[in-house]
Amino acid sequence: MPAPNMELIVSLAKRRGFVFPSSEIYGGMAGFWDYGPLGVELKNNVKAAWWRQMVQLRDDIVGLDAAIIMNPRVWEASGHVSGFSDPMVDCRNCKFRFRADDLKGPPSEIACPNCGNRGTLTDARQFNLMFRTQVGPLEESASVAYLRPETAQGIFVNFDNVATTSRQKLPFGIAQIGKSFRNEITPGNFIFRDREFEQMEMEFFVHPAQEDKWFTYWVAERMRWWTDEMGIGPDRLRLRAHDRDELSHYSRQTTDVEYAFPMGWSELEGVADRGDFDLAAHAAASGKSLSLFDAASGEHVVPRVIEPAMGVDRAVLTVLLDGYHEELVAGEKRVVLRIKPTLAPIKAAVLPLLRNRPELVEVAQRLTADLKRRMSATYDDTASIGKLYRRQDEIGTPFCITVDVDSLTDGAATIRERDSMTQERVALSAIPERLGALLGGEATWAGVPRGSDTAQ
Ligand code: GAP
Repeated sequence: MPAPNMELIVSLAKRRGFVFPSSEIYGGMAGFWDYGPLGVELKNNVKAAWWRQMVQLRDDIVGLDAAIIMNPRVWEASGHVSGFSDPMVDCRNCKFRFRADDLKGPPSEIACPNCGNRGTLTDARQFNLMFRTQVGPLEESASVAYLRPETAQGIFVNFDNVATTSRQKLPFGIAQIGKSFRNEITPGNFIFRDREFEQMEMEFFVHPAQEDKWFTYWVAERMRWWTDEMGIGPDRLRLRAHDRDELSHYSRQTTDVEYAFPMGWSELEGVADRGDFDLAAHAAASGKSLSLFDAASGEHVVPRVIEPAMGVDRAVLTVLLDGYHEELVAGEKRVVLRIKPTLAPIKAAVLPLLRNRPELVEVAQRLTADLKRRMSATYDDTASIGKLYRRQDEIGTPFCITVDVDSLTDGAATIRERDSMTQERVALSAIPERLGALLGGEATWAGVPRGSDTAQ
């Protein structure tokens, strides 16, 4: 199935409260977005799935949460002050700005993509993408600081702290989730390219002799994560190795996991072999040794680093795009978000069939309260049952529970599963347990797993 167009997802995200333009009542701000009630749940679930897989289920990776603003010398040593830039071109006529590498030809020869004038584009010049700010009350050059453009440097400068306090031996990793900021020349494609975004990055430190082996391992492991843990269709994913001339200043080799976005195959995650670039640079600039004694080889080594790095916002966009389906059910269009139940913002929705029967409403609300203790659950009686189902399908709720008049006598209710739309009658008292087992991957629905034991 072709990817849905971006407009459908932008509209669903706005209409249902996943993502809003930032400061919308003032006209918004390009490259900044706010996550609404459903969006924050989805985003938290994506982050939890990554953290669980990368940190909690492994013995060889530990977590970190470093400050966004660091000593500016970090960014000098890392090469970002001198090298973290994109080539930018201005139009002298309409004042629009473009990334030179997005233009189809040399600026002097082509028409401005915005106003169409020829001969008005300037030559390309390098534009540093880091946001600058001031720290402290004095506005002087000594107080200049940067909002981090990647979370990775917080990990490198803490390498020694973590290595000595966590008793890790090579190979081991440090993982971090947090905000990053880039003054992108052309933010766009909804939450694909933002100026404020979140990253999930892991730096895996290895003995130099094992660099290639671990690079190969992480490329394969990250691809597996996207299909198995995120549920993204394998036919819309591919791996692409960077050509030498597109490698970042720190990279020896990089392979991207790409997704078939509506605007074409684009980077979802990068797995980079950063060699010893960062540790060596920080050791030289700070004067602190960032080597480690490797008991296995009996040597002191500056470890090499393999880095899987991805954007949370891009992951959320991918989950929405990949999960979006339209189908005809009894002659009517049904929009259903077929996302992994573990990622769904709401796991269970309790829907009473008759909202004017107080005893029925009471049973349904009691069930909702029971469910809320185990999972994100909601109660809704504000429309007909058909409409209530559609509402939940559209936001990916894997299970709806209908409480009907028979529930008052048989003490049971009907669970309806989102993808198959098949139903099961289950005792009210057993429903939280049944759904918990389905979501936790310990039970199946008509023989098909509906959850995962790796993310809740
Ligand atoms: N530490 C390495 C690093 O930052 P990157 O390829 O520049 O590498 C890693 O970024 C990931 O962060 C990308 O694969 C993408 O998912 C996400 N990302 C980068 N820039 C972004 C932006 N402007 N908006 C949203 N996500 C972005």
